[in-house]
Amino acid sequence: MSQQPLVTKPESGYWHDAYPELGRGPVSFDDCVSEAFYRQEIEHVFRKTWLYVGRVEQLPGPGSYFTREFAALNTSVILVRGKDDVVRAFHNVCPHRGNKLLWQDDPFRETRGTAPVLYCRFHGWRYDLEGKLIKASREDLLLDFDKANCALAAIQCEVWEGFIFINLDPQNTESVRDFLGEFAHDLEGYPFAGPHQVYRFQAELQCNWKIFMDGFAESYHGPYLHAGSFGALTEIARLDKANPYTDALAFQLKGPHRMFSFAGEPSKQTPYSRPIECLTESSPAGPWNKKVDIGPLPRGLNPTRSESYGFDSFQFFPNFVVIFSSSGYTTHAHWPTGPHSHIVEVEMFFRPPTTHRERIAQELTVSFLNDIVLEDASPLEGMQAMLNSQAIREFHVNDEEILVRHLHKTVQDWVAAGERQKGATG
Ligand code: FES
Ligand SMILES: [Fe+2]
Repeated sequence: MSQQPLVTKPESGYWHDAYPELGRGPVSFDDCVSEAFYRQEIEHVFRKTWLYVGRVEQLPGPGSYFTREFAALNTSVILVRGKDDVVRAFHNVCPHRGNKLLWQDDPFRETRGTAPVLYCRFHGWRYDLEGKLIKASREDLLLDFDKANCALAAIQCEVWEGFIFINLDPQNTESVRDFLGEFAHDLEGYPFAGPHQVYRFQAELQCNWKIFMDGFAESYHGPYLHAGSFGALTEIARLDKANPYTDALAFQLKGPHRMFSFAGEPSKQTPYSRPIECLTESSPAGPWNKKVDIGPLPRGLNPTRSESYGFDSFQFFPNFVVIFSSSGYTTHAHWPTGPHSHIVEVEMFFRPPTTHRERIAQELTVSFLNDIVLEDASPLEGMQAMLNSQAIREFHVNDEEILVRHLHKTVQDWVAAGERQKGATG
């Protein structure tokens, strides 16, 4: 691994000077308010980009499948591993008469399982794991029947480092690896596949997906919003000057994607440690005094090569976040369900504990992290309501919030480009 820093702060002391194209003035969040903008965002962003839908470990063998429900994208998707081990995606609709192919008790709930064929329970048509029709019931009744025309509707599906992505745009010609770009290439080789202890949870919030993403694009809020969870951060923040735990070590922008690296509160005993933390020697930042050895870090992690590095947070456009820490990595996916609502899905992939003591310490960290995500979520519904009031239309983001500026500008640029293209071709 190169020890050379990949990124350094501009001499001026402001990250914005490294990215002058973003501007420095107030920012509009009308893109989180307008219903018209929301419709354009679905059309030009979510229906045109690669979207993370799950890990390959969720499809352990041929015939394993799971479904994803995307009401805002007006579809349900089947992800299935074929006999040839290839992961494929199909719209969850039967070409006979449109029945929803895979579901259990409730057609609008996601399902999973293993099956030798994909079977439609309405009239019994069977499809192989590659989506081809194997057998229509009572073929003698079918008129002008061409089996080859009755395959499931395929969706572009590619895997990068075990992360399964789909792209709903049939015209798309860019591979997921090319789309994710240099940030992703510099993470290749990280032991994403585990083995891991996996923790998953999700919640629906009455706020636009972008304002939750914004909360994970800066740690400026740490000592204030998380004052109860991170006492040591908050103590330094009382001085109201540079905070080595929260001020970013690095901010980087590459195309529509962004990342930041920061130290965070160290995982060790502090005067603020609660009795349960002392008992388990664990805190929100992970087990105390323990850096998990995962071998050499991929080039893209800890890009400043800082001794005090704690976390890297990558935001892949549009809605996929991967956060690395000494415990493992966490993903967030943000799915709009309306202009002022979305579902956040959180998955934690942590090293499997080797002792009971480690397991308890890990459970405590997970429980703290759940609380912290809830703290992150706590202001957002009120914030959405106040953005909706439009009493104020321009907001004052600072240098530590440069990624917030970048997300909103990128989404607005994509929507504007999509509308221009539509105007030119329509
Ligand atoms: S709708 Fe699927 S077999 Fe008839
Ligand atoms: Fe936070």
